[in-house]
Amino acid sequence: MGNEQIQELLGKISGRRLVNTLIGLIIRRFKKDLKIKKMKYLTFKNGDQLPMIGLGTWKSKPGEVYDAVLWALSAGYRHIDCAAIYDNEKEVGKAFEKAFSDGLVKREEIFVTSKLWNNSHRFEDVIPALKNSLLELRLNYLDLYLIHWPIAFKNGVGFAQTREEFFTYKDVPLSQTWAGMEEAHNQGLTKHIGMSNFNISKLEEVFESAEIKPEMNQIELHPFLPQKKLVEFCKSNGMLVTAYSPLGSGDRAARIKKENEPSLLENDMVRAIADKHNCTVGQVLIAFSIHRDIAVIPKSTNEGRIKENLASIQVDLDADDMKALLNIGTDFRYIDGSFFTGTKSPYTLSDLWEK
Ligand code: A2P
Repeated sequence: MGNEQIQELLGKISGRRLVNTLIGLIIRRFKKDLKIKKMKYLTFKNGDQLPMIGLGTWKSKPGEVYDAVLWALSAGYRHIDCAAIYDNEKEVGKAFEKAFSDGLVKREEIFVTSKLWNNSHRFEDVIPALKNSLLELRLNYLDLYLIHWPIAFKNGVGFAQTREEFFTYKDVPLSQTWAGMEEAHNQGLTKHIGMSNFNISKLEEVFESAEIKPEMNQIELHPFLPQKKLVEFCKSNGMLVTAYSPLGSGDRAARIKKENEPSLLENDMVRAIADKHNCTVGQVLIAFSIHRDIAVIPKSTNEGRIKENLASIQVDLDADDMKALLNIGTDFRYIDGSFFTGTKSPYTLSDLWEK
């Protein structure tokens, strides 16, 4: 075989390899799209889209959350819910960095939420707190930043225990915190801003001074706490809603649990609906929010359950199922906020929840 023939053959092989590589890439891309296409989205006013199922990271321990985030992204999740107080943003950030460097996802393909902790409600504290979350998450912008609670602690206080460690609404009105959120948005540090655990009257208070209307309220929501009135209020005021603790957050620390809490995961009616659809109880609970056009962020650090929860998007509850779930007859709030109230606090439960 002459030199020219060898060169021609080599050219053919590398050309074929190139074609194979290209075909491989196209198939991978197509598969990725297929996975994502099954997802449903909520749409912000500017057209940005929020994948309706996100991975919750509250209670996900360092040492576990890194794998959880990577499993979730590999399974097709594109929405990760974080918060400074979860004390794991550093490890979530390592997972993002790994996912980006491995080409698993690009930054712009994922939707990342974080939350302003109670000790940074003064105007001048909001941006430094957000920047700290960005540093830990190894990102240069957030998709969504939320005021975590309508409760303020003094700067540097992790969890207020005495009256002196709290700020009152007189010290730091919610309008001041919201102005800080608007500034963060205007500086391009976050694409969207909103809140978590805000009731109707607190939302109305923010609306009064807001130059940028809040776009999200993240609240506890499941069949035991369907939040009909608050959801209707948010939607009629142009806000999207995200459901937290959709499975009842059974892995909470004992000190924030009550005795004899009712169990969503062991509820007979939810089980019957799961049997009817040949799916799991967890999937029914997740599908419950999706069918109400509410995003939902089940937490898991178990690879199998992470996949199972994402597959809830395919559970097709019918009108009878939804009616039954919305009228389940058990009324219960798991995260009741009583850890922020009491004699050593200026706040009462009426600052948090409407009756
Ligand atoms: P794990 O992390 O071991 O999967 P919530 O989202 O309401 O906070 O609930 C989180 C709790 O529910 C965790 O204990 C989590 O455990 C568990 N969990 C997550 N997904 C499922 C599921 N599909 N079925 C049952 N339990 C689940």
